[in-house]
Amino acid sequence: MNTQILTTSQEDLHMAARIIRQGGLVAFPTETVYGLGGDAMNDEAVRKIYAVKGRPGDNPMIVHIAKASEAGQLTPHLGGATMSLIDSFWPGPLTLVLPKKATVPAATTGWLSTVAVRMPDHPAALALIRLSGCPLAAPSANLSGRPSPTKASHVVEDLDGKIDAIVAGEDCRVGIESTVLDMTGVSPAILRPGVITRRDIEAAIGCKVEIDPSLRRTEPDGEPAAFTGGEAALPAGGLAGASGEAAAFCPKSPGMKYKHYAPKARMIVLEGRQDRVKSAIDRLKKQDESLGNRVGVILFEENAFSEAAHAFFAKLRELDNQGVDLILAGALSDADGVGFAVMNRMMKAAGHAVIKV
Ligand code: TXA
Ligand code: MG
Repeated sequence: MNTQILTTSQEDLHMAARIIRQGGLVAFPTETVYGLGGDAMNDEAVRKIYAVKGRPGDNPMIVHIAKASEAGQLTPHLGGATMSLIDSFWPGPLTLVLPKKATVPAATTGWLSTVAVRMPDHPAALALIRLSGCPLAAPSANLSGRPSPTKASHVVEDLDGKIDAIVAGEDCRVGIESTVLDMTGVSPAILRPGVITRRDIEAAIGCKVEIDPSLRRTEPDGEPAAFTGGEAALPAGGLAGASGEAAAFCPKSPGMKYKHYAPKARMIVLEGRQDRVKSAIDRLKKQDESLGNRVGVILFEENAFSEAAHAFFAKLRELDNQGVDLILAGALSDADGVGFAVMNRMMKAAGHAVIKV
């Protein structure tokens, strides 16, 4: 398939909207990451999204709307707390999981009785939804398991030749995906952390917000890191050679159980005081390089959480493109703010392999 590369001009957005109305797929920028959009009410278009991404069929899509009133097409009623959240945060990077109307195709919501809804804070995304005249089902526009795309070039890398068009806008401002908040339980619960934090949400609705327990998980996906402790002996072949199998694991948001954001390289997170992390990274890098491995480093300024969010996925892809064998990443220390949201992605990218220093 020939993938058209479009701009964010009115003329090009009209062309993109025509493709969506005909059941085609168009990737487009949002403030968080690029999305791969199709008509959320068209079962066939949604099935194509799963197929193109290689996405498991039980992992539901977020449905994007351009006006809060359009949520009424998707969910039977909006409660008081939901209305307050919409007033406070839409358009913006907050996705609300709500009861689903029967008219929303089952494929869109991964056969769940709930639907995830968000209004993106991006002019081209909003214009595309408006011109298409339908809500857009849009997961992140990466192949399943790959880091989410924050630049048009990332989308081209993963999806060129597989979808009808890519609206190539600027790099995404936020850089990590929206906060997913479940509004269908006794208290609101964060299923996926993002730059709208628990504290922001609690301030807007004046009640306690839970954090899904699966987000506090610490055990590694594979074999426990035998090399925990910075001074421990290296496995044969260096850290780049160590690997493990994913363990069974069942969080409430289906997407959170899959191996995600995975760079091609083996990745390890170093956790501890910033000065110790820095010297451990230097030492381990030299050790692995002396064994002939290429080593990449991800280390953000202490407490520069928004900058880390903006840069993290792009950095993973950049290191992959350089062909490194091992990525050593410094953990951010943040209990439940933006740094916590970045750590959620970093730990998944590393398969929860951590060295405490
Ligand atoms: O920022 C974002 O949210 C981006 C942009 C494109 O809007 N989209 C995005 O979509 O990250 P995706 O499909 O990559 O992630 C959606 C997440 C998945 O973890 C999925 O399991 C969860 O939301 N989700 C969707 N519908 C759900 C539902 N009804 N109940 C629970 N979790 C749901
Ligand atoms: Mg995704």
